[in-house]
Amino acid sequence: DDFEGRGVWRYNAALPFEEGVSLPEGATPLHEVPRLEADVGVETLRVKHEGMNPTGSFKDRGMTVGVRVAKELGVGRLACASTGNTSAALAAYGARGGMETLVLLPAGKVAAGKIAQASLHDARILEVDGNFDSCLDIVQDLAARGEAYLLNSLNPFRLEGQKTIGLEILEEFHEDYGSYPDRIVLPVGNAGNTSALYKAFRELVQSGALDVDDVPKLTGVQAEGAAPMVEAIENGWDETRRWDEVETRATAIRIGNPVNAPKALPGIRETNGTAVAVSDEEITEAQRDLAGEGVGVEPASAASVAGLRKLRAEGVVDADEQVVCLTTGHLLKDPDAAFEAGDDPEPVPNDTEAVLEHLAE
Ligand code: F0G
Repeated sequence: DDFEGRGVWRYNAALPFEEGVSLPEGATPLHEVPRLEADVGVETLRVKHEGMNPTGSFKDRGMTVGVRVAKELGVGRLACASTGNTSAALAAYGARGGMETLVLLPAGKVAAGKIAQASLHDARILEVDGNFDSCLDIVQDLAARGEAYLLNSLNPFRLEGQKTIGLEILEEFHEDYGSYPDRIVLPVGNAGNTSALYKAFRELVQSGALDVDDVPKLTGVQAEGAAPMVEAIENGWDETRRWDEVETRATAIRIGNPVNAPKALPGIRETNGTAVAVSDEEITEAQRDLAGEGVGVEPASAASVAGLRKLRAEGVVDADEQVVCLTTGHLLKDPDAAFEAGDDPEPVPNDTEAVLEHLAE
C-alpha cells in the first residue's frame, strides 16, 4: 500500500536504492488477449509485454539498478556478454549514466535491432567467433582481471530490478481479479529472470504479504535446440552438462549453459511449475497469434505462448487456470524474423486504377 510512482522504482522498498539511472522503465502493459485465451483454452490469459520497456526488453528493469550500483562503485567500464537485449540495455543505460560500455556478442547470431541499439548508444561491440556461453566465459575473465564491471545476470543487482516484473504482475492482476495468477509462463535462456521472479515471491511470502499457496507456478519455456533447463527439470541438474551445440530461431534464448540454473530450478520445482521445450515452428505460430492480437513480440518472447499452448494441449495446464505469459522483447528487435513470419509486401504500379485492380485479384 505504501508504493508510490510507476514502474521499477515504485517498488524501491524491495530494491537497494531509492532511485536508479532511469529512462524510466517498467509499468508495462498487461494485455488482454481474448481470442488467444479462447483458442488456448484457459479461463484467463494475460500477456505482460516487457517489450514495451525503453530499449524494448525486460532487461531495462535490471539495468536501471545494475548501472546505478556501478555508478555508486565508480567503476570505469561496464561489460556484458549478450544474445542482444542485454547489450542494448547496457549500452543505453551506460550512456544515460555517462559510462563506457563493452559488449561481447556471438558473431552472426544477434538480431539486427539489438546490434543497432548497442551501436548507436555507443557501446564498443566485440563479435566473438563462438556462442553466447563462450562470450560469457570471456567477459567473466575480463571482470576477474579488473578490466570491466560485469553486468550480466550473474550480477545480483540486475536480478533485484527484474524482481519488479513479478511485483507488477501480482499487483495489477490483483487489482483486476481480486486474486493472483495461478501460473506465470516465461521464456528461459540464462534463467536470470526465472530466479528473479522466484526471489520476489519468496520475499513476499517471508514478509507475510503473500500466502505461500498464492505463489504462481513458475513455468519456463525453452527452444528445442537449446533446452538444458528442460532437461534438468526432467533428469536432474548436472553442473558439468552444458549444451555446446545450440540452435534456434529465437536467438535471444540460444543458450546452452544457463548460469542461473541453480537459483532458477528450485523456483520452478517449489512453485509446482514445470519447464517445456517448443519447436521453432511453434514459436513462429505463437508470434503470429500474438501479432493477431496487436501484440508485436520477438521470437523468444513468443516461446512463452507456444509453451502454454503445448502444456494446455498435454493437460499439464488446466482449463480453469488464470495464466500470465511474459513477452520479454519487442517485435522490432528482430525485423528479419518478423518478415519471415509475416506476409511479403506486394509491389503495385503508381496508379489508383491499377491498385484497385490489384486489390480485386
Ligand atoms: N527473452 C528475451 C527476449 C531475452 O533477451 C532473454 C535473454 C530471455 C528471454 C531469457 O531470459 O536469460 O533471464 O532466462 N537474453 C539475454 C541477453 C541472455 O543477452 O539479452 P533469461
